[in-house]
Amino acid sequence: MKVSKLANWKTLIAIAAGAVLAGGAVAVASDAGSIAERIKPAGQVRMAGETGQQTAAAASGEARSGEAVYNQACAACHAGGVLGAPKKGDAGDWQDRLPQGMEILVQHTVEGYNAMPPRGGCGNCSDEEIESAIEHMIAGL
Ligand code: HEC
Repeated sequence: MKVSKLANWKTLIAIAAGAVLAGGAVAVASDAGSIAERIKPAGQVRMAGETGQQTAAAASGEARSGEAVYNQACAACHAGGVLGAPKKGDAGDWQDRLPQGMEILVQHTVEGYNAMPPRGGCGNCSDEEIESAIEHMIAGL
C-alpha cells in the first residue's frame, strides 16, 4: 500500500515534470516561430500604404520587367493562344481589346477574365508588373 502510494506520487511528479518540459518546449517552439516572423525579409511583409498584392521585388522598388513577367507567367497561354487567349504581338487578336485602354486591360487581368485566372495566375505579380507584361505583349501593335 505504502509502496503503491509512493509510486503514485512518483507518477504524478513525472507527469508534472513532463508537462513543464512540454510547456517549455512549446514556449521555445513558439518563440522560434516569432523570431522567424520578426527576422524575415521586409519584402515579404505587407507595408502600410501598399495597395494590392506586392512582390518582394515590387515592395523593394525593383519590379520585374514586363518581358520577365510575361515569360514566367503569361506566355503559357498568350504565346500560343491557349483557351482563346489573345496572342502576343497578334494585331488581329488584340484589335477589339486595345480600345478598352490599358486601365481596363490591367483591371481584367488583375481580377481575372473568363478563362484567365486572376493576375493571369501570377499571385505575386504587382499591378505594375501586370501592366508591364501587357505592354510587352502588345508592343508594336
Ligand atoms: C491560363 C491561361 C492564361 C494565362 C496564364 C494568362 N492569361 Fe491573359 N488571357 C487568357 C485568356 C483565355 C484570355 C481571353 C479571355 C476572354 O476574352 O474571354 C486572356 C486575356 C487577357 C487580356 C485581355 C483582357 C481584355 O480585356 O480583353 C490581357 C490584357 C491579359 N490576358 C493579360 C495577361 C497577363 C499580363 C498575363 C500574365 C501575368 C496573363 N494574361 C496570363 C488566358 C491566360
